[in-house]
Amino acid sequence: MVGKDIISVNQFNRKSLEAIYQISLIMEKKSREKEELDILKDKIMASLFFEPSTRTRFSFESAILRLGGKVISTTDAIYSSMTKGETLKDTIKTVEKYADIIVIRHPQKGSAKIAARCTKIPVINAGDGPGEHPTQALLDFYTIKKEKRRVSGLKISMVGDLKYGRTVHSLVKLLSNYENLEFCFISPKELKMPKEYLEILKEKKIKYTETDNLECNLGDLDVLYMTRVQKERFENEKDYEKLKDSFILNKKLLEKAKNGMIVMHPLPRINEISTDVDCDPRAKYFDQVENGLFVRMALLSLVLGKIDIEEKVLI
Ligand code: NCD
Repeated sequence: MVGKDIISVNQFNRKSLEAIYQISLIMEKKSREKEELDILKDKIMASLFFEPSTRTRFSFESAILRLGGKVISTTDAIYSSMTKGETLKDTIKTVEKYADIIVIRHPQKGSAKIAARCTKIPVINAGDGPGEHPTQALLDFYTIKKEKRRVSGLKISMVGDLKYGRTVHSLVKLLSNYENLEFCFISPKELKMPKEYLEILKEKKIKYTETDNLECNLGDLDVLYMTRVQKERFENEKDYEKLKDSFILNKKLLEKAKNGMIVMHPLPRINEISTDVDCDPRAKYFDQVENGLFVRMALLSLVLGKIDIEEKVLI
């Protein structure tokens, strides 16, 4: 992975996923033991966020700082020359002169790929519109594997905005590397999982069902992955208002689920999960937030050549 871009989860297979899992575990252990790490002390990360972010940006920035590196950032296009009409390409060609790696979030699908093509330094996709969010999928995978001790054979429901939600797009593709999974896609009919992702599952002979009923298989699930309706992708506010509270998970409903089921959400949540679920031991969304730090520490170290992926040791 040294010097490589991270644009899509298509880049990963079972072997690299397992390696990233192991290296993230090492990062978690070192962080919990407060071991001082400075393996990226000569590195500067540029974080270029043209869409709002809390967790993704802060966890990337925290990750490089915890590894001894430095950050330069613009959190909104209004603070960069793109508002003056500069193209994404010219912005990237400028930023590459100041940094060793670029983390980019941009509203346009395919933008991270475009950015990666015009620079020699590695580019990490932190969300390209409704396209993909590969590093979120990696931290979701890390959370699932750590909590459930396996990935193959799990029964997983994804709920909410499956049409525009980039986290579910990336996660479904990533998980399709494993066997005997059963997916249930729960959404209003207007926000169904796009065909291209269903086709991937069909090709790999992975079972899935689609429904608009949150309760239908709740008692049978291993993972319940909730998402918010992506307000910013709607042209018409009324359409959003109609759909925004389609599914709400609360304490009462959770009584129907198994003790070993986990509840996940990439956050931010709006109303999809009532706060009365937060202290249930099955609620893992704030653990996901923390896992994002460890996984991004692992990814930055790998891409910047400071970890040997085969040996899993710091260089
Ligand atoms: C997600 C995103 O930006 O796609 N958030 C995140 O990165 N943790 C999910 C969302 O915004 O709903």
